[in-house]
Amino acid sequence: MAVKIIVGAQWGDEGKGKIVDHLSDSVDIVARYQGGANAGHTVVIGEKQYVLHLIPSGIFHEHVTCVIGNGVVIDPIALMDEIKQLRSLNINITGRLLISHNAHLIMPYHKLLDSIREKSSEKIGTTGRGIGPAYIDKFMRVGIKIVDLLDRDTFVHKLKRNIEEKNQILRKIYDNPELDINEIVHEYEQFDKQIDEYITDTALFLNNAMKENKNILAEGAQGALLDIDHGTYPFVTSSNPTSGGACTGLGVPPTAVSSVLGVVKAYTTRVGNGPFPTELEDETGEQLRTIGGEYGATTGRPRRCGWFDAPMLRYSAMINGITEIAVTKLDVLDKFDQLKICTGYIIDGKPLKSYPTDSRTLDKVQPVYLIFDGWKSSTRSAKDINDLPLNARRYLDAIEELTGCKVTIVSVGARRDQTIFTK
Ligand code: GDP
Ligand code: IMO
Ligand code: MG
Repeated sequence: MAVKIIVGAQWGDEGKGKIVDHLSDSVDIVARYQGGANAGHTVVIGEKQYVLHLIPSGIFHEHVTCVIGNGVVIDPIALMDEIKQLRSLNINITGRLLISHNAHLIMPYHKLLDSIREKSSEKIGTTGRGIGPAYIDKFMRVGIKIVDLLDRDTFVHKLKRNIEEKNQILRKIYDNPELDINEIVHEYEQFDKQIDEYITDTALFLNNAMKENKNILAEGAQGALLDIDHGTYPFVTSSNPTSGGACTGLGVPPTAVSSVLGVVKAYTTRVGNGPFPTELEDETGEQLRTIGGEYGATTGRPRRCGWFDAPMLRYSAMINGITEIAVTKLDVLDKFDQLKICTGYIIDGKPLKSYPTDSRTLDKVQPVYLIFDGWKSSTRSAKDINDLPLNARRYLDAIEELTGCKVTIVSVGARRDQTIFTK
């Protein structure tokens, strides 16, 4: 194996953190390739729960080197906070965390603009972490990179230029008080010393590691349907969570990718606005939310819940080149009498042949469902696929059949030991 990409195959929060942590046991490097502190990846070890936002989910394995790639947008405040928290848990970070010199920084004005824009009637329901505005500056070619932190003059020059422009936007468009340049310079001055030891050319590091036959996990944040190009635009994030983003976000060539594992919840959730054909806005949806603990790991917002959506997965498998899937949170369905899987969509009385990412069309589709009998018993202590009740295996078989994706991992609880490998 060279590079295995772990990608969220739905709208995020599929359980990537758990799966990456589990697979980290047998790899050398785990690398985050896009997104920022909008991500919340949960790892449960024993009775303890940890939520990671920027640091890769391999950090709890002492032998693993963790990389934050050039495609990630980094809020230094969130990063230092996370490092501090991990250090307080006696997790050794020194020499194990590498940050790309090419990654872009999230500045206070990015977070401010994100929150101001979200007050409009056309809000997306962002996490408020400044992600969109930071990527705007990156693609406008005015962004400030991690490496700029190390050169005080360049940093102050770029910061002044940007703040002058943002202040005009804040004042003239949003009627908002201006930001104080000196205050921000002062706040960010401390980061160069704190961050220096981690900064390197991570693309070079990863390519050298591949020459030494090291195994690399590329950890995606968010999910395929939140992809800026392939998701339910405009209700998406501002990066490419899909597998292609791993190559550009890390500087590893597509030829180095050996497999793509899609992480898939046994049902569907979404946080924020946007179309959701299989959404359950009733008691069953509430039951999924309660049993599944479906509240955002970053913002605490309740997640919208619905049935498993096979057309979405077929689309996700196509654009990601998914070679296998991990089905998570199967145990959340343990108590249901009946379960549904959406097999296709109907619009204007006709079946749709391909997945419509256009939000207006997706808003109008009617899902067609297959109904399954529940298994009404606990799967949480199953260690082998054959330990699962027959109806649970039928449900998984249907997912395989309807999506064309081989299920190689089944997760039946948040803990490491609640993981079944099917082969
Ligand atoms: P991520 O963003 O994809 O890493 O997912 P999150 O961490 O945001 O959300 C997944 C939630 O489900 C977390 O609270 C996990 O601890 C939890 N979880 C993961 N796998 C399972 C599982 O198989 N069963 C249950 N009950 N919870 C799980
Ligand atoms: P993980 O990595 C679920 C959603 C937000 C919003 C949209 C845009 O934990 O799976 P943004 O702040 O990125 O500009 O918000 O994307 N979103 C997520 N939803 N899981 C995430 O990350 C998400 N990161 C962003 O709710 O709808
Ligand atoms: Mg999450």
